[in-house]
Amino acid sequence: MDEINKAQREIAEKAAKKFRHFFSEEPIVVRSPGRINIIGEHTDYNEGFVLPAAIDKAAYLAIALRDDDEIHLVAADLNEKFSISLNELKPVSDISWPNYILGSVAQFIKKGIALKGFNAVLMSDVPIGAGLSSSAAVECATTFALNELMHANLEKLEMVKMSQIAEHEYAGVMCGIMDQFASMMGKEGYVMKLDCRSLQYDYVPFKLEGIKILLLDTNVKHSLASSEYNTRRTECSQAVTWIKEHEPQVKSLRDVTEEMLDKYVLIKDKLVDMRSRFIVQEINRLQRACEDLLKGDIQALGIKMFATHDGLSKMYEVSCDELDYLVEFVRNNDAVVGARMMGGGFGGCTINLIKEEAVGALIKDISAQYLKHFGKKPDAYLVSISDGTSKIL
Ligand code: GLA
Repeated sequence: MDEINKAQREIAEKAAKKFRHFFSEEPIVVRSPGRINIIGEHTDYNEGFVLPAAIDKAAYLAIALRDDDEIHLVAADLNEKFSISLNELKPVSDISWPNYILGSVAQFIKKGIALKGFNAVLMSDVPIGAGLSSSAAVECATTFALNELMHANLEKLEMVKMSQIAEHEYAGVMCGIMDQFASMMGKEGYVMKLDCRSLQYDYVPFKLEGIKILLLDTNVKHSLASSEYNTRRTECSQAVTWIKEHEPQVKSLRDVTEEMLDKYVLIKDKLVDMRSRFIVQEINRLQRACEDLLKGDIQALGIKMFATHDGLSKMYEVSCDELDYLVEFVRNNDAVVGARMMGGGFGGCTINLIKEEAVGALIKDISAQYLKHFGKKPDAYLVSISDGTSKIL
């Protein structure tokens, strides 16, 4: 057994042990990871492309069916419990974590798949609110586990879609499909180029000699994220509606050019123009970044990551002072090939591609300066690219 599998098995054993402690029976344990995204941000709900990968931080769900219709949940890391009956299933308002599980349960019911009650213990080392899709990890773990236990024979892609709708309906975030896709479909050593319109995807090798993926966490929880996220979606679809009046073939910003924005959007609303112009540029940038990656031109890829950050910060306006600070800090550092804020925004992490030998010094330096500036420390995570959702025990 290699090191990675061993580490995963150890956490799964811990989750199983907790489960036995609370429920005195033997569970299965499903692991579902968090994700990074190299480039292509806010493009998924505009039917563009994304380039995510699953990481070696994951949610673990130990779970077994019951004979009645009750659901009993334990969040082991938070020391919290929650119970509900299948017949009374609805989103909970005072705590958030049960919603990711219950939202996934609801999708089985909607599909008419017979369900039983269950007991479950959740453990996760995906930092919460860090923009690493801790919620998608729990949704995918739940959907995968219930599919397994109920022998529902669902395809992985179907489970991705169900987990995405769980987030819409039970967490109220109208997210695109990237996070759940990355968590479920991830493959060790590969990023995925996903066409969010057709859902076709390619695994692209991501082995960069001497380069590490370093996440720097602002430790600003992205609390604004859900309302602003939904506003950005509305702004994008407003642009599409205006363009469609003249170009009926246009279905989403994926089909839009900057010339169309000049003609039909800029004259109506500068803000909507700026938002949608970022998306049009980002969809194109990702295509070129993929060519860089295939050619092994990591410098060119890195430059595009900085450009993405600038667009997210100045045009899409989903960054914050702390994220901007972390990116500016490394911008002229020769050891950092590329860096940008990652995910929905308003907090969470920056992703940095950095030369291995420079990692220690940078973390030390940036932590001290960040502390001086913002009165708190950033967290640093060196991540590697791992497999997607699977049953470990
Ligand atoms: C969040 C959403 C994703 C995606 C990103 C931004 O993580 O859940 O669907 O839109 O933001 O790229």
